[in-house]
Amino acid sequence: MSGHADKSLDRRQFLQQGAAAAVALGGLGAVASETPRKEDPDAPARIAVIGLGGRGTFLLRSLVSYFPQVTVPAVCDLKPDRLQAGIELVKKIRGTAPAGYGKDEFDYRNMAQREDVDAVLVATGVQVFGTIATDVMKAGKHVATEVTGPHSLDDCWAIVEEKERCGKHYMLLEQCVYGDVNLMILNMIKHGLFGETYYAECSYVHDIKTGGSGKSRLVEADQTLSWRGRLVADGHGSSYPAHGIATPAKWMGINDGDRFEYCIAMMSEPREIHAQVVEQFGPDSAAAKIQFQTGDFLSTLIKTAKGRMIRLDYSLSNTRPYSRYYLLQGMNGCFESRTGLFLKGASKESSPGYGTWDPVETFLEKYRHPIWRKDAATALKTGGHGGMDYFCLRDFVDMVRYNREPWIDCYDAAAYNALNQCSQKSIDAKGAPVEIPDFTKGKWQDPDWRKGRPSPAAVLPA
Ligand SMILES: NC(=O)c1ccc[n+]([C@@H]2O[C@H](COP(=O)([O-])OP(=O)(O)OC[C@H]3O[C@@H](n4cnc5c(N)ncnc54)[C@H](O)[C@@H]3O)[C@@H](O)[C@H]2O)c1
Repeated sequence: MSGHADKSLDRRQFLQQGAAAAVALGGLGAVASETPRKEDPDAPARIAVIGLGGRGTFLLRSLVSYFPQVTVPAVCDLKPDRLQAGIELVKKIRGTAPAGYGKDEFDYRNMAQREDVDAVLVATGVQVFGTIATDVMKAGKHVATEVTGPHSLDDCWAIVEEKERCGKHYMLLEQCVYGDVNLMILNMIKHGLFGETYYAECSYVHDIKTGGSGKSRLVEADQTLSWRGRLVADGHGSSYPAHGIATPAKWMGINDGDRFEYCIAMMSEPREIHAQVVEQFGPDSAAAKIQFQTGDFLSTLIKTAKGRMIRLDYSLSNTRPYSRYYLLQGMNGCFESRTGLFLKGASKESSPGYGTWDPVETFLEKYRHPIWRKDAATALKTGGHGGMDYFCLRDFVDMVRYNREPWIDCYDAAAYNALNQCSQKSIDAKGAPVEIPDFTKGKWQDPDWRKGRPSPAAVLPA
C-alpha cells in the first residue's frame, strides 16, 4: 500500500517539476510531455461522427485528411443525402467506407455501442448535445461536442455527472481559445506581463439573420425554424456563449482557482430579427408571426468568486460584419482586440497614463505561443478559422489516443453554458443577480486540481 502511495507521490512530483520546467521554457504551466496512458499508443483513434452538416463534414474531412492516427468506422446523420456524402468522403480519402447510421434520431445509440468505436464527435444542432453526449458516455465511449456545448442547466449537470460516473472524457470543441493572438495573450499572462488581471470583455456577434446570402439562417425556406432559429425563438438567454466566454475564462483561470459566481443580464428588443423575416417572407407570412424571444443585443456581466468581472456580449442579428472581440485588463496593461495592446514599461508613454496602443503584431514574434511557432504551417494548411480549428481538433484526437483529460473539459463546458439559462433568469428578473452553479463542487478552489493535464503548452509527441 505504501508502495502505491509513494508511486503516486512520485508522479505528482514529476508532474510538478514538469510544469515548472514548462513555465521556465516559456510555456503555460502544463506538462511538456506526458507518458501515453493508452495500452498501445500506436493503435488508431477510432472516431465516429454524428451530424454531417457544414461543420460536421468539415471536421470529418479534417480527421481523415490530416490525422493519419485516426480511423472513422462509422458516421451518422438523419438526412440520407448528407449521410451518403459523408460515407463517400471517407471512402474517397481512405479507401474504405464507414458504416452509416441515421434511421431515426436515436440511431446514434446503436453506433455508439460498436466495439470498434473509441470516441464520438458530435456536430448536430446544440439542443441535443446534452442528451447525445450523455448517451455516448453511457455506452462507454469518449465524446466531444461542437460549440456551444450543453444547452440547458440540466444538460450541464448531466454531462458532468455522467463523466464522473463513467470516467470517460468529454471535450468541448471550442477553438477560439486556440487562436494565434488569444494563445499569445495567455502566454503573456503566464509570463506576468499583464500583472493581476481583473476585468475582461468577450463576445459572439454574428449576423446570421441574413447569413451573408441575404437569406435567413434562423428561418428555413419552408418558414420553419432552424436549430439556430430555435436558439433565439425558444429562449432569451446568452445561448451561444462558448466562442466568447471560453477565452477569458482560460485567461483568468476559471475553474482553476476562480469560478463564475453570479451574473446579471440585460437585452434590447428583438427588432432586427423580426424586420428581416418580414422583409424576406412578407408581413402576412407564417414566419412573420414567429415571436422571437432573444433581443438584438444581449450583455451578461459575470462576477467571479475572486471579485473579478467579465462582460459577455451576444447577438445573432446586429447589422454589421462578423465581430468577435475581446479585452483583458490587468494591473500592468490592457489587450483590446479592436485597438491593440498597452503594457506599462513596454509601450510608449509620454507621461504616466498617457500612452499609445501598440499593434498586437508587435508582440507576436516574442510571445507567440509555442504550438503556433511549431505547427502554424500545418494548422493553416488544414484551414478552419485561420488554423485554430486544427489545434482544437488535435487536442481531441490526442485525448482519445492517450486516454487523457482534455484542456476544455465538462466542468468548463458546464460553466460556460450555464450562462444561457442564468442570463435568461436575470433578464426575467429585470437584471437581478443569478447564482451560477459550481459544477466542480469546490474543486476550483485548488488552482492545481487539473494541473498535469496537457494544455496547449504541451507539445505532444507526434
Ligand atoms: N466551431 C465552429 O466554428 C462552428 C462553426 C459552425 C457550426 N458549429 C457547430 O456545429 C454544429 C453543426 O452546425 P452546422 O452548421 O453543420 O448545422 P447543420 O444543421 O447544417 O447540421 C447538423 C446536422 O446534424 C444532423 N442531426 C441532428 N440531429 C441528429 C441526430 N439525432 N442524429 C443524427 N443526425 C442528426 C442534421 O440532420 C444535420 O445534417 C452546431 O452545433 C454548431 O454550433 C461550430
